[in-house]
Amino acid sequence: MGLRSLVSAGFLLLPIAVTLGLLLGLQAHREARGMPPPFVSNKVSTDTYCQRAFGISPATRGLQYTLNPNQWGIADNYTGPGGLCMNVTSFENASYPTNTSAPQWSITWQFPPGPPTQPVHAFPNIKLDPDAVFPIEISKVAAIHFSAEWAYGVGDVKPNTTNVNDLLAADVNSNVAIDMFLDSDPDKAVSSTDAKYEVMVWLGVFGVATEPIGLKQGALKTQSVNGTNFNLYFGENGLGQSVLTWVADGTVQNFNADIGPLLQGLTGLGGPTVNDHLGYLAFGSEALSASTNITFWNPDLHMDVISI
Ligand SMILES: *[C@@H]1O[C@H](CO)[C@@H](O)[C@H](O)[C@H]1NC(C)=O
Ligand SMILES: *[C@@H]1O[C@H](CO)[C@@H](O)[C@H](O)[C@H]1NC(C)=O
Ligand SMILES: *[C@@H]1O[C@H](CO)[C@@H](O)[C@H](O)[C@H]1NC(C)=O
Ligand SMILES: *[C@@H]1O[C@H](CO)[C@@H](O)[C@H](O)[C@H]1NC(C)=O
Ligand SMILES: *[C@@H]1O[C@H](CO)[C@@H](O)[C@H](O)[C@H]1NC(C)=O
Ligand SMILES: *[C@@H]1O[C@H](CO)[C@@H](O)[C@H](O)[C@H]1NC(C)=O
Ligand SMILES: *[C@@H]1O[C@H](CO)[C@@H](O)[C@H](O)[C@H]1NC(C)=O
Repeated sequence: MGLRSLVSAGFLLLPIAVTLGLLLGLQAHREARGMPPPFVSNKVSTDTYCQRAFGISPATRGLQYTLNPNQWGIADNYTGPGGLCMNVTSFENASYPTNTSAPQWSITWQFPPGPPTQPVHAFPNIKLDPDAVFPIEISKVAAIHFSAEWAYGVGDVKPNTTNVNDLLAADVNSNVAIDMFLDSDPDKAVSSTDAKYEVMVWLGVFGVATEPIGLKQGALKTQSVNGTNFNLYFGENGLGQSVLTWVADGTVQNFNADIGPLLQGLTGLGGPTVNDHLGYLAFGSEALSASTNITFWNPDLHMDVISI
């Protein structure tokens, strides 16, 4: 390195240090006088994402979440009718109501029915990011706190509640589901395509084309979690993954529970053992078809995996 570049480096450092010092001094001065820091805005913004697949991870001081329109069932060259967009509401100050609060989000979509072999167009969802906790051995999970409030309605605006008859009149085929992936190999457990097991928890299901895998074989087990009754179905998907689906009785728009017990007692039923690892936890809606635009709205969501 020549003398000239050393000199330029030193020359550049000085103004940056001076500027930072001035800014930090100004902030300390304002805080001492009880004034809000000048560079933190309390602005709330809603952004719209219509991409096929796109990760959105709003800055947060609490648990990190990533949202994705995830239109995995649509070919890149698809030019047919329909579409899906996701709205995400983020806080510029990164201070959500609690440490586990997720950003509010909605989706508005419509698709014609796909072939019976591939009826799902998308799984728009919000995922708890692999932070310190994932992957985690089931035997080391003390609780999986889940709480959500959601509504599905016909039209382009946020629904206040879910009217199942209105959805069926719009030929809706969709569900609202918690999605988890597990594997004996911790590295595979974090991958929705490489993991051996998928465990889903359906809080709502609309339309006769929206079936859990293994429905025809009948429910293998029934379990109640904090007052909500679930039936378990089992089968294999096209990727050869073992899929276990807990389907709630009715439409559960408010669900607040420790869902950890739904990962236990599955071994004899084709599911994971307590020594398998949970690597993935998300909440969303499988979009199959609808004859007009419908909107899913999730104003309140908390997910938290507590280890022993
Ligand atoms: C952050 O912004 C939100 C939304 O404007 C506001 O409700 C909250 O009080 C703010 N939090 C802090 C710590 O400034
Ligand atoms: C879309 O792409 C797939 C595979 O890449 C191909 O089989 C199919 O024919 C294409 N469809 C159209 C309409 O181009
Ligand atoms: C239906 O939803 C799509 C995707 O969100 C949107 O692009 C389109 O404008 C909506 N159609 C109407 C008529 O509002
Ligand atoms: C939760 O937030 C509090 C401050 O509000 C903080 O002290 C604590 O470390 C946070 N805990 C986690 C797990 O983020
Ligand atoms: C999503 O955001 C767009 C653009 O701001 C807005 O027009 C639309 O009404 C929003 N959708 C919902 C369901 O709030
Ligand atoms: C939801 O309730 C609010 C307040 O009552 C109302 O303004 C809004 O139109 C309602 N939304 C729908 C889709 O009915
Ligand atoms: C069970 O549901 C009630 C009512 O929604 C709620 O207050 C309580 O916190 C829930 N229990 C757990 C363990 O989540």
